[in-house]
Amino acid sequence: MNRIKLGVNIDHVATVRNARGDNYPSPLRAAIFAQKSGADSITIHLREDRRHINDLDLKKIKSKLKIPLNLEIAATKEMLEIALKNKPNFICIVPEKREEITTEGGLNLKYRKDFLKKIISKFKKNKSKVSLFIEPSISDIKVSKSLNADTVELHTGKFCNLVNRKKNYKSELKKIKKAVIFGNTLGLNVHAGHGLTFQSAKILSKIKGIKEFNIGHFLIGESIFLGMRNTIKEFRRIIK
Ligand code: PXP
Repeated sequence: MNRIKLGVNIDHVATVRNARGDNYPSPLRAAIFAQKSGADSITIHLREDRRHINDLDLKKIKSKLKIPLNLEIAATKEMLEIALKNKPNFICIVPEKREEITTEGGLNLKYRKDFLKKIISKFKKNKSKVSLFIEPSISDIKVSKSLNADTVELHTGKFCNLVNRKKNYKSELKKIKKAVIFGNTLGLNVHAGHGLTFQSAKILSKIKGIKEFNIGHFLIGESIFLGMRNTIKEFRRIIK
């Protein structure tokens, strides 16, 4: 059986850098470090307000990375041009609201279907594979197929919230399972992401047919605890 791929989202390395307006920690260094540490791909989300990753990060990471780069973008003209110019291996189209803290839900596929179809075709001609970030819903999967997407990424945020708050997640899990089966039946690659932790990823990893998880916030946060000991040791050595 094929193992599930792990896409590592490094946006929040840039969040920490930007909090001080300094040039570290470097998202490029994080991308290369993740590559060396076993990530199958690197994800970055270039937001309209550039609150984490910026255009220069994208350029540097694209030129140095050996594993595939997955660029998340909103379906806007500006992002279309940037994505066409940079030719990432994968493009994941996500909804984006300026005030949101993170991507709150899947795409509203009833809205601007023609524009989406047009840009998906442009990206594919430009040799980028295209994924749509959607709710785990049968109708959204059907629409994604009709728009010619290669992949759907199922938004796991609701499920993960229920797991984290120790609430009943059974019906949300069922929705995800059904969506995975249906997506695979239509010949779509099915990815999953948003809010995943060790616990929620473990539950979802039991579902057959998910090809890849994309994980960011928890993974970067947990790295503080898995890495702090070594950093403190290094300071101890330097200042002794
Ligand atoms: N997948 C997509 C499409 C996303 O927009 C995000 C958040 O940027 C993630 C995965 C990762 O979510 P998290 O940072 O909560 O792990």
